[in-house]
Amino acid sequence: MPNNLTFIDFCSGIGAGRLGLQNLGLNCLAFSEIDKNAEETYRKFFGAEEQNFGDLMKINTKELPNFDMMIAGFPCQSFSINGQRKGMKDERGQIIYGLIKIMKDKNLKYFILENVKGLVNHEGGESLRIILDELDKAGYKVFYKVLNSLNYGVPQMRERIYFVGVRKNLVKKNKEFFWPEPIKTPNIKTYLMDKEKLEFDKDHKSYNTFIKYLNNKYNKNKHEIEKILEKDGVVIDTRQSDLRLYDGCVPTLRTGRHGIMYVRDNKFRKLSGFESLLLQGFPQEIAKKAKGQIIDSHLLSQAGNAMTVSTIQSVGQSLLNFISN
Ligand SMILES: C[S@@+](CC[C@H](N)C(=O)[O-])C[C@H]1O[C@@H](n2cnc3c(N)ncnc32)[C@H](O)[C@@H]1O
Repeated sequence: MPNNLTFIDFCSGIGAGRLGLQNLGLNCLAFSEIDKNAEETYRKFFGAEEQNFGDLMKINTKELPNFDMMIAGFPCQSFSINGQRKGMKDERGQIIYGLIKIMKDKNLKYFILENVKGLVNHEGGESLRIILDELDKAGYKVFYKVLNSLNYGVPQMRERIYFVGVRKNLVKKNKEFFWPEPIKTPNIKTYLMDKEKLEFDKDHKSYNTFIKYLNNKYNKNKHEIEKILEKDGVVIDTRQSDLRLYDGCVPTLRTGRHGIMYVRDNKFRKLSGFESLLLQGFPQEIAKKAKGQIIDSHLLSQAGNAMTVSTIQSVGQSLLNFISN
């Protein structure tokens, strides 16, 4: 198993992808991230000494060390159904070209890329077609699939498209690529376990707004507060005029939406930044390094942007299986 591979973590965010690959024994040489807040959290997790190459569009590739593999969850706004759907014409859509330039300049062997599911149908599938075309022209055999993190080790519904690339001259004849098999979703109660006092009750400024919301014309008679409070562990998401309850999992964590709540001991609680890291597969001992050090709203946003550690680990394992003898 070629697990002495080196990689660089592009569009690193807080390094969930890095952690997934490190769990497989791969060695991270550096990262590239332009968001200072994400970098601060990244350094809490991985250390102050790590080298950040900054804006990947401006990297002089001669300055990069040699490495085998790229991981990049390239920005999703331009492709996301939540964004403006400008796609390849939006400047952020062009990040893929910056990544491909690095692949070519460094003659990289492998990559794992991640994006939102909305990329599949964006502009009638044109954006995806362009990306696949460009990666093919760059010399890579590419496998892609939408996977849900719920099936890969965390109780979070999170559908993302994953691309696994292998330089064509390294692809063995007649070798098949297998995506990871789904595994049983773990129990959510071990994730919603923050001990801090995060109860959401009358003492909370926005509590009355929430109660009014429960009684507005859309939700009236649909939900009774007492009934909801009896369901220990139920997750509550409020979206525009809609209120949804989830049993056994949380909906997709998103960078701009922090309103997820759940019930514990007959009380409403707000999902904390620490819990959102756990729901992205960060182990407690690593998530604790940010807890109380980075403000919660930043952690919630950063977790919403992140990959899922365990999903990347599973996808990385599929790649390792494919390239092993
Ligand atoms: C969808 S997030 C990916 C987060 C990451 N995969 C994680 O697990 O936390 C995209 C990240 O790309 C970063 N980014 C955007 N443009 C960039 C650029 N030109 N160079 C480096 N990073 C960039 C953003 O700041 C953001 O943190």
